[in-house]
Amino acid sequence: MLVHIKDIIKKAQNGNYAIGAFNTQDLEITLAIAQAAVAQRSPVIIQVSESAIKYASLKAITHIVQTIAKNQAGSIPVALHLDHGKSFLSVAECVKAGFSSIHIDGSDLPFDENVNLTKESVAYAHKRDVWAQGELGIILGKEGLMKIEKRELEMKDCLTDPGEAAKFAEQTKVDTFAMSIGNMHGMFVGLERLNLARLKKIHAKVKLPLVLHGASGVEHGEIKKAVKLGVRIVNIDTEMRQAWATALRCALQDDKKEIDLRKILAPATAAVQQVVEEKMKVFGSAGKA
Ligand code: G3H
Ligand code: 13P
Ligand code: ZN
Repeated sequence: MLVHIKDIIKKAQNGNYAIGAFNTQDLEITLAIAQAAVAQRSPVIIQVSESAIKYASLKAITHIVQTIAKNQAGSIPVALHLDHGKSFLSVAECVKAGFSSIHIDGSDLPFDENVNLTKESVAYAHKRDVWAQGELGIILGKEGLMKIEKRELEMKDCLTDPGEAAKFAEQTKVDTFAMSIGNMHGMFVGLERLNLARLKKIHAKVKLPLVLHGASGVEHGEIKKAVKLGVRIVNIDTEMRQAWATALRCALQDDKKEIDLRKILAPATAAVQQVVEEKMKVFGSAGKA
């Protein structure tokens, strides 16, 4: 069933576990996430990025998630969230469409501009009973790795500063807080080491549910430690995409004559479901619905 994100995050906060926020852009991935949630009896966040919205259209993807939450997920709580909204307009459109949570990502902006954009988005969201996530610090990866090359940044320059994080949370009134602690978007196995000492300092100063972006490729033991240090939402996309693409390539290779897309896509959907189920166990949300 579709629920407000606050219902599941407040429980995760009290129970000291994290909820997975999994990216979707279509029917099959949404089904895979919902089926995993049902199989693991886990609350779940289904999130869409701006480019997913451009691909599927806001109306279609919203209806897909809402309908699957209602019909396939049954009594399992599902929350709908905007991932990496870059503008006030994106935020406003998703709030109007019925999302219970938005992410306003001003992390590329100077501190004051990030605060202003976030504050404006939070005020709009709160007036309509929607939660808002803010972000501070530079999360590398995908195009971000280029960022590091271009600007000759080092990881230590990208990490969220605990003092600034506290100021940001206080000034913006965000409900959840995304930070950079060594996490990167995409899979960089071995390179993606979480700075748990930094996380501890942020957790001591920011009394909000913390969000770990870019968790694909982060070792499960490290994620579990991060959950103990206040991470309540863990974002996963790339590992699902990799599982999907690998399974699809195998299916096409195995039977070159098959043209029924439902048969071709079934193993890919199942592979994504398996990734999501595994993550739910790691985050501690399995069995919590
Ligand atoms: O962190 C971003 C998510 O993985 C979404 O990526 O913009 O390619 O949909 P996307
Ligand atoms: P990964 O692609 O590294 O899993 O990151 C997903 C994410 O942070 C979505 O916001
Ligand atoms: Zn992210």
